[in-house]
Amino acid sequence: MSLSSPDVLDRPAARPARRPLTVAIVGATGAVGAELIACLERRGFPVGELRLLASPRSAGQTLSFRGAPVTVQALDEDSFDGVDLALFSAGASVSRRYAPAAQAAGAWVVDNSSAFRMDEATPLVVPEVNAWRLDEAPGRLIANPNCVAAIAAVALQPLHARRLVVRIIGATYQAASGAGAAAMEELRASTAAALAGEAFTPQVLAHPYAFNLFSHDAAVDPETGYNGEELKVIAELRRLLASPELPASFTCIRVPVLRAHAMALTVRFAEPVSVAEARAWLAEAPGVRLVDDVAGNHFPMPSEASGADEVLVGRIRTDLSDPSRRSLSLFVAGDQLLKGAALNAVQIAEALVRTGAL
Ligand code: A2P
Repeated sequence: MSLSSPDVLDRPAARPARRPLTVAIVGATGAVGAELIACLERRGFPVGELRLLASPRSAGQTLSFRGAPVTVQALDEDSFDGVDLALFSAGASVSRRYAPAAQAAGAWVVDNSSAFRMDEATPLVVPEVNAWRLDEAPGRLIANPNCVAAIAAVALQPLHARRLVVRIIGATYQAASGAGAAAMEELRASTAAALAGEAFTPQVLAHPYAFNLFSHDAAVDPETGYNGEELKVIAELRRLLASPELPASFTCIRVPVLRAHAMALTVRFAEPVSVAEARAWLAEAPGVRLVDDVAGNHFPMPSEASGADEVLVGRIRTDLSDPSRRSLSLFVAGDQLLKGAALNAVQIAEALVRTGAL
């Protein structure tokens, strides 16, 4: 089967004959790591041995997989002996240092960090959007996109496939989980403190988080005035939509939500597109759940996106500021830990299994 076949999309791996795989998770104790373990289990990924890797701080801790305890090991250069698939989610510096060791051991690497996403030789993949790029991974290394870029691409691809997207303006409402498990804990603790009327000093994020929101913590580029997150989203969306010059602008904001990102997107197309057309295309798109109940004022919400595999899309309307009627505005919500990270990584691995690449 070719990787460009629709069959690679969003179906759990049913691995027929070959041996079960040895799978390593780097960053197993983190927020994404926990979801990687859960996704492998609930989607029936053909795991023979699961190797859980983290920093020496976590060595000896046990986590559960299929009801059995698995001991966390400290990551080192020898961690990948016999590993078929290594799922990395411990930050870019860890990926840069250890992904080569995994590749040298013969493993396929799916990397959730930003380390290789803009590397031309490394496919940046959301299976619903560009699974065909998995055919082009000579280094057996696949990059998993930034969470906002992945979620936006799932919502935009069904439209882009019919009417070329020519401009995107977006504003994001990003959850704590994007900054890791410690930031999620800081949201809980700071909210509890605020409700109790107690003082709270932020430890993880730069600003008070309870009942507040603030610009994403990535450093601002002095030349453009955009922060690192905004620049990543723009660059990665261009890659995912195979539109290298696509004009795009984002404002990325951290909001006090635990694990689902939301975003308002205003998108211009090369030709006019009606709301009815967009709704019909999105309703049948893989990985999308249309949530567009105008009468009930029910649109995508982080509370309903949390824990969901699908990206929720709604509030679809013609952009009144574009007299050519070539622009739509939409509101989108997706689970940052799932489609924005762990689920997408596991779907990439499933696509590799289905085609026999892995
Ligand atoms: P540990 O828990 O031992 O620090 P999150 O994004 O939720 O903060 O999680 C980050 C993950 O990356 C954790 O599993 C963390 O392990 C892991 N990690 C961080 N630094 C390293 C490192 N130098 N080597 C291995 N794993 C690391």
